[in-house]
Amino acid sequence: MENFRLEKLRALQERARAGGGQERVNRQHAQGKMTARERLAKLLDPDTFSELQPLSVLHEDSIAGDGVVTGYGELDGRAVFVYAQDFTVYGGSVSLTHARKITQVQEMALRNGAPIIGLVDSGGARIQEGILALQGYGEIFRLNAMASGVIPQISVILGPCAGGASYSPALTDFIIMTDKSSMMYITGPDVVQSVTGEEVDHENLGGAAVHATVSGVAHFVAPDENISLSLVRQLLSYLPSNNVESPPYLPSSDDPQRTAEVLNTLVPEDPNTPYDMHEVLAHVVDRSSFFEVQAGWAQNAIVGFARMDGQPVGLVCQQPLMMAGAIDINASDKISRFVRFCDAFNLPLITFVDSPGFLPGVAQEHGGIIRHGAKIIYAYVEATVPKISVVTRKGYGGAYIVMGSKSLGADLHLGWPSAEIAVMGPEGATKILHRRELAEAEDPDALRRTLTDAYRETHANPYRPSEYGILDNVIEPAQTRPVLIRALRALREQVRHIPPKKHGVMPA
Ligand code: HXC
Repeated sequence: MENFRLEKLRALQERARAGGGQERVNRQHAQGKMTARERLAKLLDPDTFSELQPLSVLHEDSIAGDGVVTGYGELDGRAVFVYAQDFTVYGGSVSLTHARKITQVQEMALRNGAPIIGLVDSGGARIQEGILALQGYGEIFRLNAMASGVIPQISVILGPCAGGASYSPALTDFIIMTDKSSMMYITGPDVVQSVTGEEVDHENLGGAAVHATVSGVAHFVAPDENISLSLVRQLLSYLPSNNVESPPYLPSSDDPQRTAEVLNTLVPEDPNTPYDMHEVLAHVVDRSSFFEVQAGWAQNAIVGFARMDGQPVGLVCQQPLMMAGAIDINASDKISRFVRFCDAFNLPLITFVDSPGFLPGVAQEHGGIIRHGAKIIYAYVEATVPKISVVTRKGYGGAYIVMGSKSLGADLHLGWPSAEIAVMGPEGATKILHRRELAEAEDPDALRRTLTDAYRETHANPYRPSEYGILDNVIEPAQTRPVLIRALRALREQVRHIPPKKHGVMPA
């Protein structure tokens, strides 16, 4: 190649790398934000990034790259496809060219069975381009939906993500938001005020804290960009690159036979005294391997990834410390979506059950707890991965059934000696069964206590369901880890089928 040709190439590359110019880069840095290329360098293994189409839209009145840096690289040695919106170029706004750079990597990720990671920092549709930008967004959404359940899709929100643009991250599997500097909403504060009269700022409308604790839109929130990007690596360490691979095994130094005596006394004698389900998990999974998803939202349920003797699993539990572990609308959504994700990506499911029931009340009924709660059933039944459930204490009524019970197809259904499995709680059952006797009793409180204890003794224990073969075994809590690891080994090659269909119609 002649030298002058090389010079031209280098000049073009230089211009592409400059993005929207030093002034805008400085502005980005002043806000504690990195540029698109800096973020990709932080995200990926060193020296693995290859850019695609850095020279797109290279003409006098436009800036190279068109506001998005796309390409592929490696993360812990595994191929990933990436895009990072460049806020210094037209505010990272989406033109048709910009969108097609994104859909190109979406298509490549799908064809190659590799995860796609989007780093979002954008003013939305490129206003001066008009309808073409909308066409571009629609094409991105279409590929998001097509890739769902085939390859992991992760969105990291590092700046604005406003309007319909939010639907791309919403269609992906996980949303990571950076506290303070990111925001997601369908309609911005100005529109909200003009339509509803409510005065609200960006942060209160759709900041990371709101989406991590109130709306449930975000799965993870990080204090800064570095941590947001490192969460992607942590998350992918539990996931296969696609739906036909197994999740990555990591050799574990934790003894698979390790027992935990402390679990034998963790569940309090008094059924109304709570305990922390996180403690159960800490004593069961490989040390320090639990990675909680949506930790700040619907905290009456706990979902997350962990390893058992090095093999990734999905965990679904109640948290008795929150609302006594009752299942409400948000917990239903959190659990059902996580179960479906684990099933799509071949992660065995381990469920720990301690729920007194579905949350009663007008707000829950009017909010549609019926259709939301039904999703948990749907998700567990549809799941063909190994399913193991352990009832640690309360398993009452519908809440018992939905949490991966034997009737829904659990491969292994276990109880601790503290398990209380029955149609309804002893207090409620006693009131209904003995209403007349209680009304006529001289000392109704004493009688109620006696009858409640008798009910608990007869009905609310793990031995009745064991007699009927509903529980596969009652285990000593201390043995939970070795018991589960042995089961996971036995079930590893399991093949299950659901009837052929185009797709089911999940309650929503
Ligand atoms: C073109 C845009 C842009 C956009 C920002 N810019 N948004 N250019 N189209 N949508 C440009 C600005 O002109 C500016 O250019 C640069 O990006 C940085 O923007 P600032 O406003 O200076 O930055 P900041 O103060 O940080 O504010 C960021 C912002 C704000 C909150 C995102 O720019 C904003 O509100 N933008 C408009 C958002 C919006 O309404 N988008 C369209 C929504 S409709 P210079 O040259 O000065 O650096 C939509 C529909 C999607 O997205 C539907 C999908 C189905």
